[in-house]
Amino acid sequence: MKVRRMLAAGMIFCTCIHGLCACGSQSEKRTDKFLVGVTFYDQSDTYLNQLIDCLEEQFQNPERKDLEITMMVRGAAGSQQIQDDQVKELIDSGCNVLCVNLVDRADPSEIIDYARENDVPIIFFNREPVAEDMQQWEKLYYVGANAEQSGVLQGELAVDLIRGNGQIDRNGDGKIQYVVLEGEPGHQDTIIRTESAVNTLKKNGIELEKLSYGIANWNRAQAQNRMLQMISQHQNQIELVLANNDNMALGAVDAYEKLNYTESVFPVFLGIDGTDIGLEAVMDSRLSGTVYNDKEGQSEAIAKIAVALMTNDGMEKIKFENKKYIYLPYYKVRKDNVNEFYKKK
Ligand code: BGC
Ligand code: CA
Repeated sequence: MKVRRMLAAGMIFCTCIHGLCACGSQSEKRTDKFLVGVTFYDQSDTYLNQLIDCLEEQFQNPERKDLEITMMVRGAAGSQQIQDDQVKELIDSGCNVLCVNLVDRADPSEIIDYARENDVPIIFFNREPVAEDMQQWEKLYYVGANAEQSGVLQGELAVDLIRGNGQIDRNGDGKIQYVVLEGEPGHQDTIIRTESAVNTLKKNGIELEKLSYGIANWNRAQAQNRMLQMISQHQNQIELVLANNDNMALGAVDAYEKLNYTESVFPVFLGIDGTDIGLEAVMDSRLSGTVYNDKEGQSEAIAKIAVALMTNDGMEKIKFENKKYIYLPYYKVRKDNVNEFYKKK
């Protein structure tokens, strides 16, 4: 009771101060308050947690200092149904714009309908809706990264390593025996990264032999399990592990460590993302390289679009592809440049 009364008194006091300021100086800048709703597919995803932290930072320190932006975040626990409900809750709470990382990138219709009825624009990110769905309404945007480029860069990292070190072809048969650890089936990054990494190796004249692949849904523990199965089938034949993200590359390393293999029979491990643990693993050589998925750049682009939409100002200055899309570039990360990326933290 007492606490509540004190809180109430505090609120009156604050309102008075605010009122005083507003009357006291005409030049005092007005603060515009906005609410941004964010929902992402699964709160256990390493990369997305780091991207959401960057987004939070962007909204806390917007370029325009006269804005006060509050971000409401929801994790959808891998369920599209839960996410649809979260979107309704966020819109009903008065969000001015939504940032949506879809659970099922092929199933955004319910979200789009509700947002359109309430005229709340949506910026999708990281999990790209299919092109027809992006045409459902003019206030839909997408911010992500160029998946093909990430595969090409991972392939180029592998090419350089293989050319620079004859020992990687451990059995000396002139071919690189490799396995792939894949993310969620149906995710644009899974399909495209795998294809373009392998094509890049082939185009560069590296002879390959695919021993196996495992689907590990971006997840480190699942990757460890898949890798243990592949090792039991192929023993120490595996010379290269291409993983669709850092988590799965690290899961593969975990498998070798668990089996107590000596490092001389470890394959080369390559990831994608440059998450904190991924970069640390490049520093201590557990991963031979990764490809930086620019979460800072993506968050900045999302925040820019959100602010322009909420303030009705600046949309024309933003450079979109096909009026709706922004794709940030990826970067190669090796031991010799990893510090540049780690510093961004
Ligand atoms: C990242 C993965 C992440 C996935 C989630 C990908 O772009 O590389 O680490 O799990 O997005 O959608
Ligand atoms: Ca070989």
